[in-house]
Amino acid sequence: MVVNPTIALVTGANKGIGFEIARQLGERGITVLVGARNEKRGEEAVQKLIAQGVNAYFVPLDVTDQQTIDDAAAHILTTFGKLDILINNAGIFLQESPPSSLDVETMKAVYDTNVFGVFRVTKAMIPLLRRSESGRIVNMSSSLGSLGLNSDPNFELASFLVLGYNSSKTAVNAMTVFFANELRGTSIKVSSADPGYCATSMTNYSGSRSPQEGAQTAVRLATLPSEEATGGFYNENGVVSW
Ligand SMILES: NC(=O)c1ccc[n+]([C@@H]2O[C@H](COP(=O)([O-])OP(=O)(O)OC[C@H]3O[C@@H](n4cnc5c(N)ncnc54)[C@H](OP(=O)(O)O)[C@@H]3O)[C@@H](O)[C@H]2O)c1
Repeated sequence: MVVNPTIALVTGANKGIGFEIARQLGERGITVLVGARNEKRGEEAVQKLIAQGVNAYFVPLDVTDQQTIDDAAAHILTTFGKLDILINNAGIFLQESPPSSLDVETMKAVYDTNVFGVFRVTKAMIPLLRRSESGRIVNMSSSLGSLGLNSDPNFELASFLVLGYNSSKTAVNAMTVFFANELRGTSIKVSSADPGYCATSMTNYSGSRSPQEGAQTAVRLATLPSEEATGGFYNENGVVSW
């Protein structure tokens, strides 16, 4: 039995990049809490992880449902007494019209998961992360949320006019910066990870990178040594422009 194991919660861990993050953290001996909104899908993911030697547990968690988040936080406190790593991975991408004809309800739905979901879960888990010797929060962002890149007319994706999803990731980056600033001076570091364009259900499996590759930056940031900086935005090649 591992004394004082490292505990990680990954939201949306039942498939895609989130599942891979859970698997790769588990490979490092970290106990993984598989946050999923659907019990069957969550339990199936846990069984797959256990079959690969990972110490994994299902935690019911819908990032749009405050009650499930509060219940998850209470369960983690009672069972493990702390949280060391939070990966805010759950996200959605909806079909969008260009900004001038984008339906506000679509934008609200995207924000409810991608922005307010990250905010709700982070806020609920911070008291548990404060009980860790070295807490890490990783927010799954995207280069599509980079204003630095999108404001360059030569950016290859500047014609990808997806205001809701892209700006949701810009807002995620803002949360990284502001939570990092609030928590500066504590042992908790907050970072944004850009996984690159990955073949998952979100992209209809069209991405050029595997979920395994997409998970690597988040895993690196989740296990960042204490001397590294907080509040950054990274991909596999280093710093990404805000
Ligand atoms: N794929 C890419 O190229 C790419 C690029 C940049 C950034 N990202 C980001 O990386 C993250 C993972 O994306 P992915 O490609 O792995 O997508 P995915 O395969 O579609 O997986 C998304 C995960 O989020 C979960 N989820 C959605 N809404 C949720 C909610 N309300 N509560 C809890 N879980 C919820 C899904 O659960 P269900 O199975 O129940 O739907 C699923 O487990 C997302 O934040 C995405 O924006 C992806």
